Amino acid sequence: MNSYKDILSKHKGLPGGIIQAYHAIQKEFNYLPEEAIIATAKEFGIPTKDAYEVATFYSYLSTKPRGKNIIRICESAPCHLAGTNEIVATLERELGIRMGDTTPDGKFTLEFTQCIGQCQGTPAITINRKPYVDVTPEKVPTILAEY
Ligand code: FES
Repeated sequence: MNSYKDILSKHKGLPGGIIQAYHAIQKEFNYLPEEAIIATAKEFGIPTKDAYEVATFYSYLSTKPRGKNIIRICESAPCHLAGTNEIVATLERELGIRMGDTTPDGKFTLEFTQCIGQCQGTPAITINRKPYVDVTPEKVPTILAEY
């Protein structure tokens, strides 16, 4: 595992370095830990407040600890019409958490996302980067069992 200090020193001085560094840190830790944001501010010579603003501006960056497996549910119109709400309710029930939360064992996080390019099979979700299409409430337990 790379430490965030190693990651920061690799991206320092590069164009878009701060965003690239945040991506790399999130890839490693699944979110942006507070101490990593503070270290980023120091490394890039910007106020901590600005480093936080960047970290919270982009929806794909998270400052909240997240689980090992990130479940993203498409909430764009085609998926929504095809039954996203039922999928959300089933996932929340199966995992015992609400959207935006992480299971206490740190295994799963539930998040919304916009169209994931799988509109041929609505409703669609992804787990980590793997897409699942034509998801039904009945299929959810089998999908989760893969993890
Ligand atoms: S609208 Fe959901 S995958 Fe495109």
